[in-house]
Amino acid sequence: MNILILGAGGREHAFSWKIAQSKKLTKLFIAPGNAGTAQVGTNVAIAADDFPAIKNLVLKENISLVIVGPEDPLVKGVHDFFLADEQLRNVPVIGPKKDGAQLEGSKEFSKKFMIKHGIPTAAYASFTKEQLQEGLKYLETVKPPYVLKADGLAAGKGVVILDNVKDAQKELTDMLAHAKFGQASSKVVIEQFLKGIELSVFVLTDGISYKILPEAKDYKRIFAGDKGPNTGGMGAVSPVPFATGEFLRKVEERVVKPTIAGLKNEGIDYKGFIFIGLMNDAGDPQVIEYNARMGDPETEVVIPRIKSDFLELLEAVGKGKLSEATIEIDDRTCATVMLVSGGYPGEYEKGKEIIGLNPVIEGSIIFHAGTKQSGEKILTDGGRVLAISSYGKDISEATSKSFDLGRRIEFIGKHYRIDIGDDLK
Ligand code: AMP
Ligand code: GLY
Repeated sequence: MNILILGAGGREHAFSWKIAQSKKLTKLFIAPGNAGTAQVGTNVAIAADDFPAIKNLVLKENISLVIVGPEDPLVKGVHDFFLADEQLRNVPVIGPKKDGAQLEGSKEFSKKFMIKHGIPTAAYASFTKEQLQEGLKYLETVKPPYVLKADGLAAGKGVVILDNVKDAQKELTDMLAHAKFGQASSKVVIEQFLKGIELSVFVLTDGISYKILPEAKDYKRIFAGDKGPNTGGMGAVSPVPFATGEFLRKVEERVVKPTIAGLKNEGIDYKGFIFIGLMNDAGDPQVIEYNARMGDPETEVVIPRIKSDFLELLEAVGKGKLSEATIEIDDRTCATVMLVSGGYPGEYEKGKEIIGLNPVIEGSIIFHAGTKQSGEKILTDGGRVLAISSYGKDISEATSKSFDLGRRIEFIGKHYRIDIGDDLK
């Protein structure tokens, strides 16, 4: 099979790395990819949301399955584009259509969906620009901290949590009246604050049945000790020790099953990944959010723990035969540590040479996130540069291997968190 992966980050390198090992693979293409994906497949300089160019590539290279990495092309309707095109209709796309991608693309849609299908989540109210005054009054009736969420996609920045009602009222005004997040904040969800510890559960579904993939915990803040601004994710660990069998059974019964049934019930034919952001509230799961894709850097610890042929699983999703497939998971722990550019998640420079990428260390994998090839050199090309994943018998062993390797790789401005997994030991 010839396969096309859309995207350019660490998640897409992890997909590529795994699919390159499949006995079913003939040729692998990544659009646009990075210097890491180029080691296991062929990069094509096409943006992940340039649908006409993707069509040409799929026809020219006889692609028989497309895997969508990021949310943007999904929310813009890449899957719908394929289904509406006579020449593309029979090429399976892994990733939901626009209707299913709303689980991520609209906070209000996902909250309504959860309430309607009895899925545990924080109480909420939503307000449009015209309802600003009601929203300001509503804030006076709820207890702090105040959780405000822009309804639409806001590059991971659309959630603001504030302790003071005046600050929350100012933020609501900025979002609704001053379009702080553009169109994304033309509607705002105000949510009850959930206490607890977060983790993510990943589900692969063909719309009929599902498989639960290994869970993971992400580290979002830029500095050790959960300090500083939020990032896309600075590291991840899988499995998560507090996600016991009993907790995961509750997740399956209370969240996964009603989510899959709810999608069917709404007539949403969903083929792809569902990323469920959860709060463990004293042993009970509460859903914080859905994403219509895999997480990044969670993929860099989830994929290495899947022993089965991943392409076979995805092919089964495309055919609607996931129930016939089996998934085998590696018992070992996998941890990833992100090396990022100085200044990230604020302004940072690109184009710094990366030195020391070649050591082959048993049990470690270097996934590229923001890199590009320039002649013989590999340069930084994003805020998140490399995700160093390692296996270990436990979190300490896995993270210490990644830290060791992270120390030895050099580029100007390199930063990483040295406490990934510490809270779970
Ligand atoms: P989201 O984009 O919905 O994942 O929100 C970003 C982050 O904000 C989450 O990972 C949580 O850490 C936090 N968050 C979101 N909603 C809540 C909530 N209701 N209570 C507490 N924290 C929340
Ligand atoms: N690491 C969080 C995300 O992918 O949204």
